[in-house]
Amino acid sequence: MKLIYLDNVDSTNLWAKQNANRFNEDILVYTDNQTAGYGRFGRDWCSPKGSSLAFSLLLSPPIDIAYWPNCSQVVAVVVASYFADNLGLRPCLKWPNDILFDNKKAVGILAETTQLGNLDKRLIVGVGINVKQNIALATQVAKPIVSLEEMGVVIDVQSLIKNLQPLIQSSLVEYYQNGFQSFANVWRILGEDIGRKVYLHNGNNSLEGFISAVNDDGSLCLSDTQGYKHTISSGEIEYLSSKKDINDYRYNR
Ligand code: BTN
Repeated sequence: MKLIYLDNVDSTNLWAKQNANRFNEDILVYTDNQTAGYGRFGRDWCSPKGSSLAFSLLLSPPIDIAYWPNCSQVVAVVVASYFADNLGLRPCLKWPNDILFDNKKAVGILAETTQLGNLDKRLIVGVGINVKQNIALATQVAKPIVSLEEMGVVIDVQSLIKNLQPLIQSSLVEYYQNGFQSFANVWRILGEDIGRKVYLHNGNNSLEGFISAVNDDGSLCLSDTQGYKHTISSGEIEYLSSKKDINDYRYNR
């Protein structure tokens, strides 16, 4: 995997898309100065200089495209595990691929695909990590956010990416070879979705219910207010109850 540093860029995801045809190998492009980053559902992702690590992986996963969405969950597990194992933090994974501390977002991930030719489709997994507190950043986003610095960890962007890159690379290979199950096991340990009452938003649809499981394939099992079970593979969840409010788990049939 080729590592590319950019002094500044509008968006690393956009750069990966626009430059995909220059590379036959996987790349990781990163910056600490992203001027027009974007997130899921068309939201802005602000990364003023020095505040964040913004990077994108340009990948050609050697697996059926139906399984590509798990790649961003693998990356979320790797980053969260790195925070726990190497930085002494207690991150919380929020489905499908956010990392929170105390309900505040520290890491967001956006996966996209780009088509280069009939048979050449690539996956782009863009990751934003809030490294330092930044007032501009905090005031520009609607949702509560937190940085590694506010969690007591001072780490520079260059060290962070150099530590993460080999872990991401080897974990993706492990996923391609052995599937998602071992990552799902880590997800269940570091995630706090199970037992919570949520709204699932997916485009124009929303569904209220309780999360009863994170499945081995990375999807969620959601019991709706009528007690019907749904397998959820995409969308975004909004927590309606506090952590592990398992006693309130009354919709389950
Ligand atoms: C989200 O939580 O909505 C996902 C945010 C993803 C942000 C990252 S920063 C690096 C990459 N480049 C972008 O423009 N977006 C992603």
